[in-house]
Amino acid sequence: MENQERKKRIFSGIQPSGELTLGSYMGAIKNWVALQDEYECFYCIVDMHAITVRQNPAELRRRALEQLAQYLACGLDPEKCVLFIQSHAPQHAELGWILGCYTQFGELSRMTQFKQKAQQHQENITAGLFTYPVLMTADILLYQSDLVPVGEDQRQHVELCRDIAQRFNGVYGPTFTLPEAFIPRTEQGARVMSLGNPENKMSKSDPDGCVYLMDKPEDIRRKFKRAVTDSETAVRYDKENKPGVSNLLTIYCAVTGKTMAEAEAEFAGQGYGVFKPAVGEAVIELLRPIREEAGRLMGDKAYLEGIYREGARRAQLVAGKTLSKVQRKVGFIAR
Ligand code: TRP
Repeated sequence: MENQERKKRIFSGIQPSGELTLGSYMGAIKNWVALQDEYECFYCIVDMHAITVRQNPAELRRRALEQLAQYLACGLDPEKCVLFIQSHAPQHAELGWILGCYTQFGELSRMTQFKQKAQQHQENITAGLFTYPVLMTADILLYQSDLVPVGEDQRQHVELCRDIAQRFNGVYGPTFTLPEAFIPRTEQGARVMSLGNPENKMSKSDPDGCVYLMDKPEDIRRKFKRAVTDSETAVRYDKENKPGVSNLLTIYCAVTGKTMAEAEAEFAGQGYGVFKPAVGEAVIELLRPIREEAGRLMGDKAYLEGIYREGARRAQLVAGKTLSKVQRKVGFIAR
């Protein structure tokens, strides 16, 4: 009943484990901004997920705050959506513990991201890294989320979340809304690839292949000049044979709103020497107001503090309700 009366809920989050990139903007945040009018949205800075691999404390703190400033600068509006920091709502950890008791070791062992990260961090394969999808499940279920906008790489985690929710509902009766992954269409802009290695996704851990939201114009200009293309000269979309040029075209279209045909026509007969800087300039103009606004906001710590405090308050209101219900169902004495 309750579900039919309210706006549909959305939950998503990004880890403050590195700087936000053009890929985070195109693939996630831009989409989040578009959803905030139609849905009740909770957008989180998932610092508890970030510590599943070792972080420098001062940097983690700085990046979490910068991420909030950048969310705002990208157009997320605290009047329309709830912006908060995961560790500020203790219900995430509490529900995470409970749900871990309804999750099989075997299920977590099958998570591809765990297997990959365990490979990358062989010296530090923690229980937190292993149970990471359970915490993510708690994030989503606490808000009775209907839709979870994520990249393709998170689909398996959202599927696991559904399995856990269904299992819990099966034992205790309807408790959690079953969420669905909401994966942006894989056309323009959804997936921004590395500038240096266009077969791979643009990753924050690859400084040269990646454009950070806070990059200065001269850095962006340099990165696009160096972007990998191919030995032809034609500016033509062909993902198989021309991954570099195709990625640049995708970025150009996403930034300017032009269609692929329009972009190809615009650069017909012009070499990469004209094309690459033009894409760079378009990105510079897109990011300029975001960088300036985020910079300004970082100078106003009191304002940012007000935003994350209010976000935590609103998040806890919803999360607290779900958690109490769960605690009662599993047999805890009410506090
Ligand atoms: N695991 C996600 C990622 O790395 C981040 C995340 C944590 C998340 N909790 C979430 C995404 C809940 C969506 C919903 O991208």
